[in-house]
Amino acid sequence: MMNQQSWILWLWMLFGISMSTKPLLINFGDSNSDTGGVLAGAGLPIALPHGITFFHRGTGRFGDGRLILDFFCEHLNLSYFCPYLDSLAPNFTSGVNFAVAGAMTLPQFVPFQLDVQVHQFAHFKNHSLELLLSLGGSGNFINQDGFHSALYMIDIGQNDLLVALYASNLSYAPVAAKVPSFIAEIKLAIQNLYESGGRKFWIHNTGPLGCAPKELALHVHNETDVDRIGCFRVHNELAKLFNKGLHRMCIELRRALQDAAIVYVDIYTIKYNLFANPSKYGFVEPFKGCCGSGGPPNNYNVKATCGQPGYDICRNVTSAIVWDGVHYTEAANRHAVIKTRRLLVKLYFYYLPLKECRF
Ligand SMILES: *[C@@H]1O[C@H](CO)[C@@H](O)[C@H](O)[C@H]1NC(C)=O
Ligand SMILES: *[C@@H]1O[C@H](CO)[C@@H](O)[C@H](O)[C@H]1NC(C)=O
Ligand SMILES: *[C@@H]1O[C@H](CO)[C@@H](O)[C@H](O)[C@H]1NC(C)=O
Ligand SMILES: *[C@@H]1O[C@H](CO)[C@@H](O)[C@H](O)[C@H]1NC(C)=O
Ligand SMILES: *[C@@H]1O[C@H](CO)[C@@H](O)[C@H](O)[C@H]1NC(C)=O
Ligand SMILES: *[C@@H]1O[C@H](CO)[C@@H](O)[C@H](O)[C@H]1NC(C)=O
Repeated sequence: MMNQQSWILWLWMLFGISMSTKPLLINFGDSNSDTGGVLAGAGLPIALPHGITFFHRGTGRFGDGRLILDFFCEHLNLSYFCPYLDSLAPNFTSGVNFAVAGAMTLPQFVPFQLDVQVHQFAHFKNHSLELLLSLGGSGNFINQDGFHSALYMIDIGQNDLLVALYASNLSYAPVAAKVPSFIAEIKLAIQNLYESGGRKFWIHNTGPLGCAPKELALHVHNETDVDRIGCFRVHNELAKLFNKGLHRMCIELRRALQDAAIVYVDIYTIKYNLFANPSKYGFVEPFKGCCGSGGPPNNYNVKATCGQPGYDICRNVTSAIVWDGVHYTEAANRHAVIKTRRLLVKLYFYYLPLKECRF
């Protein structure tokens, strides 16, 4: 006899696949997943050489090409995300992206911190439903079912950690004390999206900040400050503390919101493995940014960063992990997607009580 869960799964398989409308993707975050938000929202031009590998123009993405999110769209046969803030002919039929580079869980650089992104979503949803009603169902607006079946993605927190680290001269304790407040914001965001009808959540943890060429170049260090492979210990210890808290919070919410699928995705381990075993994945000089200036070991000079006069681009960008000292290359992002896409497809198509994505 089938239990209730497998019945639901079976019904989804039967009807889910043949549904003509595919679930929508809705994303919140920072530069890891910004597909043009900071460009549209702040008018901050992010020109070539960003985009040089794939889009061949500045799209507002930080990186040489596609982000993890772009590869997810390709894998799901969806068009790339339009930023919510795009005012000229945006197309939200496959997804809407609230991510803005520089965004944090708590307010700082840009006015688009996580709770603002969630408020923007609430407005987007209300307005979409109003337009549907007033136009009698015509037009391409998302209905209640669309918001209910959507997959909600969040990738945020690295800027909170970095700002706190800088403010404390790279000491662990003051930053560690702030981590629970970052996690609380993400928890609140998930709860609010759940209240608003969302049931499928895909939560990225934060990457190994201490492996970034920029961090290694900016802060004088000796061998006791870095780990076995050469990444800053304090950054990565804090990233791990954040991730532990994020993971615990996801487990807690799963208990509280039993009809929701909340998947915690361990991006940290995937990225750390690239730095630890570069040749295994086709990469060289893991701690050297591809685009920048200053040469070895990090090719990062704050006075001539990628795109500023005096910068250079490495000969083979597909063999670099980090693009501009901070953001990952398309080649590195592609690798993260190879590891996670199978689980993503499951969450996207089926309403499964999925739990983990650990590597
Ligand atoms: C995307 O399209 C390809 C080719 O039509 C198909 O093989 C694949 O199953 C599709 N993937 C999804 C997730 O729908
Ligand atoms: C929006 O994108 C969808 C999916 O890519 C496409 O089918 C549709 O024609 C687009 N709509 C407009 C108005 O461009
Ligand atoms: C959306 O609509 C709900 C219910 O009508 C309302 O409570 C809420 O304030 C609205 N939010 C926004 C941002 O418009
Ligand atoms: C950080 O270091 C700088 C320069 O050494 C010093 O001026 C500043 O007071 C320190 N800040 C904290 C919070 O320790
Ligand atoms: C390395 O630097 C730290 C300060 O960042 C210092 O406390 C420590 O003594 C140094 N260790 C060595 C071996 O120089
Ligand atoms: C660039 O690097 C990739 C990955 O290491 C490698 O497969 C490719 O052959 C390299 N291309 C050139 C022109 O060296």
